Amino acid sequence: MELQEFVPLAPHTTMKIGGLARYFCDVRSPTALKEAIAFTVEKHLPTFVLGGGSNVLIPDAGFPGVVLHITIPGIDWEKQGDDIYATVGAGMVWDQFVAEAVKRGYWGVENLSGIPGSVGASVIQNIGAYGSEVAQVVEWVETYSAKEGMARKISAVECAFAYRGSIFKHERGKEFIVTSVCFRLKKNSVPNVAYKDLAPTFAKKGKTPPTLGEVREAVLAVRKGKLPDIATYGTAGSFFRHPIVSRAEAEAFLAKFPDAPHFDAEGGRVKLSAGWIIDHVLQWKGMRKGNVGTWEKQALVLVNYGGASEKEMRAFAREIQYLAAVKTNIRLEPEVVFVE
Ligand code: EPU
Repeated sequence: MELQEFVPLAPHTTMKIGGLARYFCDVRSPTALKEAIAFTVEKHLPTFVLGGGSNVLIPDAGFPGVVLHITIPGIDWEKQGDDIYATVGAGMVWDQFVAEAVKRGYWGVENLSGIPGSVGASVIQNIGAYGSEVAQVVEWVETYSAKEGMARKISAVECAFAYRGSIFKHERGKEFIVTSVCFRLKKNSVPNVAYKDLAPTFAKKGKTPPTLGEVREAVLAVRKGKLPDIATYGTAGSFFRHPIVSRAEAEAFLAKFPDAPHFDAEGGRVKLSAGWIIDHVLQWKGMRKGNVGTWEKQALVLVNYGGASEKEMRAFAREIQYLAAVKTNIRLEPEVVFVE
């Protein structure tokens, strides 16, 4: 177990915000995780599990306990007929795994190209983009239960995947720390390029179906056009989730904003577009206040233009929530996890 003290957390996040961790532990194996948990129990310290840091807002005051930085590496490939089972360490960079799967000719995760973060985090928030969600390809998740002090394999069904959610985000699943994920990929499959941003790229090609590599390239190009480059800007991608509201709430909203995009969701509910609300109702696309702002090409993406504090980012996000609630009666819930 490698334990460091007073480690700056901002460089470990894509938002580039956050103070010092009292203790910081690079966890490279399930055994190291067990040791690190034993240390936190012995010292009565709170823990916070950090992956790629692409969906968190860390306080300026830092974290007073132990940050468990999961860096468990590796991919194990197993072929069974047309199916390929890839068991991937939770610390692997998500897009490195996608690139490797595409290179080997395995379908299933190509639409999720370019998403920042780690493999472990991919299942916690059920990452999704361009008509795909990671839930569609997860076979099982290997975890370490901090409560039981033992490993626990969680099936895809038990993961209770939902839009940007899973058991790991709920109180009952918080005890599980993801150590590896098994994905079921396919040697042969049909490209899923119907999403409105992808379709035009392939419409020109006529009837020839796109190759895996072409799908990945198209997704990366769309992302580049819409989202800020995390090498230059501090950001966590979409800051809020799309609101999923009752039909009555949607009707009241649509009566006021008839042009707003809306989609059928589970249980007769309706999914609205958070980006559209920030852009068209608040007129806040490209809005900048001090060091923070909304991205000029995607209003749902909040940006740290350099030197922003957590306080500044929170105040900006709160102002968006307040204005959205006043103008639309809809509550925007953060997708980003606020570390307390
Ligand atoms: N829109 C606007 N103005 C904006 C942004 C969006 O009017 O500034 C409206 C437009 O109608 C647009 C529609 O919203 O056509 C959808 O926008 P877009 O395709 O850019 O995606 P999104 O729905 O805003 C979601 C995910 C993204 C994911 C994209 C692509 C959430 C919260 N976000 O965004 O995920 O990449 O779809 O599939 O579900 C992330 O989670 O961090 C993330 C980037």
